Formats: sequence, C-alpha cells, structure tokens
Amino acid sequence: MRRPLIAGNWKMNLDRTTGTALALDVVAGCAGRAGVDVVLCPPFVYLEAVGSTLRGSAIGLGAQDLYHEASGAFTGEVSAAMLLDVGCQWVIIGHSERRQLLGETNGSVLAKVRAALAAERNGHTLTPIVCVGETLAERETGRTQEVIRSQFAESLAELSEGEFARVVLAYEPVWAIGTGRVATPDQAGEVHADLRKQVADRYNAAVASEARILYGGSVKPENAGQLFAQPNIDGALVGGASLKAADFLGIIAATA
Ligand code: PGA
Repeated sequence: MRRPLIAGNWKMNLDRTTGTALALDVVAGCAGRAGVDVVLCPPFVYLEAVGSTLRGSAIGLGAQDLYHEASGAFTGEVSAAMLLDVGCQWVIIGHSERRQLLGETNGSVLAKVRAALAAERNGHTLTPIVCVGETLAERETGRTQEVIRSQFAESLAELSEGEFARVVLAYEPVWAIGTGRVATPDQAGEVHADLRKQVADRYNAAVASEARILYGGSVKPENAGQLFAQPNIDGALVGGASLKAADFLGIIAATA
C-alpha cells in the first residue's frame, strides 16, 4: 500500500520568523495524525531553523534543489552531503521553475538524482522528489504524453531497480503551477496512470505499484480530495497553499 505524501514547497517565500512560525503550526496541526508523510521544503538558508522547529515531530525536512558535485569550487551551490548535514531527508529535483528559469535540463536533473541517491551520512539518506510536467503549448498541441515520457526516460535514465525504488515522482503541469488552474482529476489521473505504466515497463509491476506519484499545480483544500480519489495520485507537491497553515493542513486532511 502506498502511503500518501504531502510536501510543501515554500519556493522563495517567508523569512526566518514567519517560516518557523508556520512550521510550528504545521507540527501542531499534524499531531496525532498517522497514515500520511508530511514534508516542508523551505529555502536553503532557513533549513536549519525550520529543521530545529520540526525536531521530534514526524514532519520531514526537504530542500528545493541541490548540486550534483560532492564539493569544490562551485560558487553558490549546495551539495547532497550538506543537505544531510543540516538534517534534510528529502530534496525536490527538476522543478519546472528551475527547468524554465534556471537552465535545468533532463541531464542535469539526472546528475542531481544520482548525487542525491549516492549521499549517505551517519546512516541517513535523501529521498529525491523528481518533477516532470508539460507546458500549456505542449498540452494544446497534443504532446503531453510524449513530453512526460521523455522527461521520465531522460531525467531518471539507467537507475537500478533499487535506486528507483527510493525516488518519488511529481507530475506538475506547468500551466497549473501558481495559476489557480488545476488539472482536472481525470487529466491528472491519465498522466499518473501513464507514468506508472512507464515504471512497470522499465522495471516491473511490483516496483510500479510501490512508486509514489504526487500531483502538483494549484492544489488547495477544496480540490485535494477529488485529486486524491484518483487511484494513481499518491499525494501532492504544494506551492502557494503550503504557505498558510490552515490550507496546508486542509490538504493533509484530505488524504484521510
Ligand atoms: P502551486 O505550486 O501549488 O503554487 O501551484 C506547486 C509547485 O510548484 O510545486
């Protein structure tokens, strides 16, 4: 059985005070709630502060990116080992904003996924949340399946079955991110089903049935339940609605 996962991607929002306050509210709101994994992904500079707030709770800490090299002269970059050092268990890789605005390619995503999977510190490891998604132009010209399949194939190329089993996928249609325009449950469900089929074709049915595939793009408490009712949607990667405790907790509650 796949355990639902709700990850909040704060993007470049909040500050130390508002971020730790939000984390505290999420911890309080999730107390006693079992059966769902919850992760907060603040900006790099607030990882430690938010991590301290989350300590002792069941809520995970995630970063929004990493760099694929282990160390060295890479000004401004952050390695997988550094993320583990500040207490991260999760890392988002290949978000569409990074693909569109910051030059991320399927190749760089793959290198980052490999780096995340290879990192280990005192018995702790990182779980990559790897994003794929088509643009509006790609959807409107009937290329959604082709684009998602090639992102899946190239961003996660040649991972062993054991490596892939540690990856979480996130389908995030670019046209639905931050636009208030959510994919219909059927539209999302169709892509999720095809992604699961890609996993089955590449590995096997057992790996496919265990793979967690999140939906992302304007998820709100009001639409979350319908999305999670889809058999292949295993949770959400939440942007805007993760910045307000009540909204984020409402989405978490919709997994039950
Ligand atoms: P949104 O962002 O929920 O604000 O649409 C989702 C995401 O980018 O992960």
